[in-house]
Amino acid sequence: MALRQFLHGDVSLTVEDCGSGPPILLIHGFPLDHTMWQSQIEALRSQFRVVAPDLRGFGGSRLAPGDEDLGLGMEHYAADLTAMLQWLSIGEPIVAVGFSMGGYVAMQLALRWPKLLRGLALCDTRAAADAEESRAARIKMADAAMQAGNSGPALAMIPKLLAERTRQERPDLAEQVERIIARQRAEGVAAAQRGMARREDVRGRLDHIAAHSLCIVGREDAISPPAEMHEMAVLLAKRGEDDVQLVEIEHAGHLSPMENPAAVTQAIQAFATECYRRA
Ligand code: MLT
Repeated sequence: MALRQFLHGDVSLTVEDCGSGPPILLIHGFPLDHTMWQSQIEALRSQFRVVAPDLRGFGGSRLAPGDEDLGLGMEHYAADLTAMLQWLSIGEPIVAVGFSMGGYVAMQLALRWPKLLRGLALCDTRAAADAEESRAARIKMADAAMQAGNSGPALAMIPKLLAERTRQERPDLAEQVERIIARQRAEGVAAAQRGMARREDVRGRLDHIAAHSLCIVGREDAISPPAEMHEMAVLLAKRGEDDVQLVEIEHAGHLSPMENPAAVTQAIQAFATECYRRA
């Protein structure tokens, strides 16, 4: 473990920074923290410098006052990451991997700071905005978490995060996910849910993303299903530079990096190696 603390105005970000080689940025999902990438961090650090932050409000990272009421747009999380990369003296274009909410953030990085990215791997994520019903459910969870003073209401997501087979055969993994969710703070949950509820539909802008791209999806993902990620890969490929591969991960639902870590690591490693080879 090589945890570092980056102070940035009112915000403080915890980041795991380890290994050596060309950098890979791993952006976690909701309502999790950087430890969801534990297997990938251990496997990739021998070949890459692995940078795995806790987004603002999650894990060891702190919100700015009022974030929980106002909500944090995906572009705010992305801006935090650009400042953090500068602080880490990472000047070269990097490979970023975003899982689910981390994917929403990674797409903002790619669209707003295109020079920062050499490669973009989108894992179990969506480019579309929420339907009205999902928006309402997010606001309801944000309010419930703040009322409870903890992340308890977010535990209800577990059945959707993991494939049914994972839940049946890997109760240890389900418990690990539960522990990660349970240690998140109400404020972090509320800020992210309010921000995700109003995130924009970026499908029409995916062809503006210049970085080499890859899509990864758990075959049984119920939140960002393979068909939807296939559509994203097609839209990303529209810029016409190169094909965008969709890697389907067997024996995995939404949380593919934890459900089938070896297969996700292999996909990331091959993609990042190729991105840096082409440089
Ligand atoms: C995640 O895994 O980050 C969440 O499912 C994202 C979301 O709630 O849209």
